[in-house]
Amino acid sequence: MKIESNPFGSSHQRNQIFLKFVAFFLLIGLTYRFLITESTVSPIPALQTSPVDPSVAQAPFSVLVSTKCDIFTGNWIPDASGPVYTNVTCRHIQDHQNCLKNGRPDVNYLLWKWKPRDCDLPRFNPEQFLDKMRNKWLAFIGDSISRNHVQSLICILSQVEEVEEIYHDKEYRSKIWRFPLHNFTLSVIWSPFLLKAETFENVEGVSYSDIQLHLDKLDDKWTDQYINFDYVVISGGKWFLKTSIFHENNTVSGCHYCQGKNNLTELGYGYSYRKALRLVLDFVADPKRKAQVLFRTTTPDHFENGEWNTGGYCNRTMPFKESEGEISSEDETMRDIELDEFRKTQEGSNANITLLDTTSMSLLRPDGHPGPYRYPNPFAGLKNKDQSKIQVQNDCLHWCLPGPIDSWNDLMVEVMLNRELYR
Ligand SMILES: *[C@@H]1O[C@H](CO)[C@@H](O)[C@H](O)[C@H]1NC(C)=O
Ligand SMILES: *[C@@H]1O[C@H](CO)[C@@H](O)[C@H](O)[C@H]1NC(C)=O
Ligand SMILES: *[C@@H]1O[C@H](CO)[C@@H](O)[C@H](O)[C@H]1NC(C)=O
Ligand SMILES: *[C@@H]1O[C@H](CO)[C@@H](O)[C@H](O)[C@H]1NC(C)=O
Ligand SMILES: *[C@@H]1O[C@H](CO)[C@@H](O)[C@H](O)[C@H]1NC(C)=O
Ligand SMILES: *[C@@H]1O[C@H](CO)[C@@H](O)[C@H](O)[C@H]1NC(C)=O
Repeated sequence: MKIESNPFGSSHQRNQIFLKFVAFFLLIGLTYRFLITESTVSPIPALQTSPVDPSVAQAPFSVLVSTKCDIFTGNWIPDASGPVYTNVTCRHIQDHQNCLKNGRPDVNYLLWKWKPRDCDLPRFNPEQFLDKMRNKWLAFIGDSISRNHVQSLICILSQVEEVEEIYHDKEYRSKIWRFPLHNFTLSVIWSPFLLKAETFENVEGVSYSDIQLHLDKLDDKWTDQYINFDYVVISGGKWFLKTSIFHENNTVSGCHYCQGKNNLTELGYGYSYRKALRLVLDFVADPKRKAQVLFRTTTPDHFENGEWNTGGYCNRTMPFKESEGEISSEDETMRDIELDEFRKTQEGSNANITLLDTTSMSLLRPDGHPGPYRYPNPFAGLKNKDQSKIQVQNDCLHWCLPGPIDSWNDLMVEVMLNRELYR
């Protein structure tokens, strides 16, 4: 992976970006309630979907790659079969990631599959997966990317069994679902820092005070429920780039992006991210805990020629080749810390934890983001307006559903069910 200069620009710009992200994600929570009900309107006619072949369901569980292979390194190759669901056949897609419904005109981004360099990865089989998950509980813990991932999984699984939502929090950020026929429970837990954190946001989701981050305390929102889980997919992420004041041993130890405030020591996000992951990994790797853990690496964004709020966009319609992806310095720093801390956990331990390294495969998909298609027809009515006043905001961080994030599940199931090969 090549390294390029910081795609977010200065720290100040970056902070602006994240303020807007936060506002945006809160709105997502609200719009999520008004999900569209069933419709018989067909999506783009040219796009064929590939419904699950019922004959496969009888076969023994065949998802596994039988030899050791680095499934995380490879290329995207053309695949005419198309996604297993669309905006019509899955009603669990959040509006802001519903690129088909929002009128994204190109569909080629749906016609690729992940090909590991040294082996073939079988396509996710929802029937078999549900059988394996009978009477089990799988939890996703993290930020809005974890939500993006869980929605992808639900869309795939709901093609064979419809899911019941049994819980959501006030903001619709944490949820629990059940697949009744399989007694399979699925959770997503909103904990963007994984640590105890006080955040201060008004109803629009704009921060009015700095985040207080406790680098020596985990967020009990997930640790309190942890005993229930059989499988856990956990990840950190971009929230660590926001301005935050660090607390350790009940005193303020420093901050990230503190702009000279209160004479605090600037320790940087690398410091807080490393401390957070260490604490998280020590907790989940504790031998007295039963859950099998998949530790997912950072998800790269693809803003080009600007930032979130300064006209940055991601209008590519093709994946990169293996040699083309350029990782941002933030993403690279985060990933290095992730790999580092994960290795420390693995050394001399038989902890039930594996890496879910989705970074490389995701880096190669600049074409997989909603871009302007977070809203229906973002360019409608713009032609007659003053072009200089128009600013269509782009989301080049989250992933379209359906989209490349669906392939995260192919890796996930492989790693979950073939653990010994991926330690
Ligand atoms: C699905 O997307 C298509 C456009 O691709 C649109 O015409 C249709 O109304 C959408 N249906 C639903 C249920 O979102
Ligand atoms: C459903 O699964 C849970 C574990 O997730 C288990 O405790 C419970 O007994 C199961 N219920 C039935 C009816 O098998
Ligand atoms: C917090 O306390 C522990 C144990 O007393 C000590 O090892 C550590 O250095 C302290 N950390 C900070 C940032 O003061
Ligand atoms: C910051 O440090 C300077 C020099 O040490 C001192 O003069 C000033 O009062 C301090 N400001 C605060 C808010 O503590
Ligand atoms: C890891 O966890 C899974 C799911 O709970 C379990 O089936 C498996 O036996 C565990 N493996 C080891 C080596 O503990
Ligand atoms: C992306 O947008 C830029 C700026 O508007 C334009 O120059 C470029 O041709 C576009 N690329 C594609 C693939 O549409």
